Amino acid sequence: MSTPNVIAIDGPAASGKTTLARRLAERLGYLFFDTGVMYRAVTLAALRQSVPVADQPAVEAIAESLEIDVRPPGLSDGRMYDVIVDGEDVTWAIRSRPVDAHVSQVSAYPGVRRAMTRRQREIGLRGKVVMAGRDIGTVVLPEADLKLYVVASQEERARRRYRELIDRGETADLEAIGEAMAARDRFDASRELAPMRPADDAHVLDTTALTIDEAVECALGLMES
Ligand code: CDP
Repeated sequence: MSTPNVIAIDGPAASGKTTLARRLAERLGYLFFDTGVMYRAVTLAALRQSVPVADQPAVEAIAESLEIDVRPPGLSDGRMYDVIVDGEDVTWAIRSRPVDAHVSQVSAYPGVRRAMTRRQREIGLRGKVVMAGRDIGTVVLPEADLKLYVVASQEERARRRYRELIDRGETADLEAIGEAMAARDRFDASRELAPMRPADDAHVLDTTALTIDEAVECALGLMES
């Protein structure tokens, strides 16, 4: 395969897809785009505006009008990018637990998906991009040249998310993290619109026993084969 122009990387929470996507983008000199931040930004905006997450039309209106900008990192505090929403840096705020708890409900709304998918497709079609999410290979960019679906065991994924939180100086409970993550995955996989699943032509990559470097090598190997 010649170097793919558009690479789609999907998979469940903490499977390693985002880190893999970022590292591949660095290696290839491509844009890295993590679509999860957009759904998280809409969720944060609803929570901050005290809009009930169950109020579908109100949440969809927020999704239509919100200005979400993702830029190269302006601070070296462990962030992969800056997420700016309506002029404010919300890079860490979108990782909060209330956002984790409500983002799946928000991202199942058709109006929210329509608004986000449109913007993501626009970015993806410019090419030289590695885009990570849940539905990139199936819905956002079905024409992607290379599709990876990244998985890892439930236990390993819970451990990774736990470590992330501890490294950020937060308190965390491994069991509770595992349960919340599993519930979010079930919701994402069973929703009607753009459910999380591998595209028919995706390569499934299990990172349970792989280091990040090994996962990157596997993906580069797939490009060469
Ligand atoms: O980092 P983590 O894998 O836990 O989550 P994320 O990639 O930031 O995505 C957060 C949530 O956004 C997911 O649980 C999905 O509900 C939603 N999402 C989606 O529906 N479609 C995408 N392409 C990306 C994220």
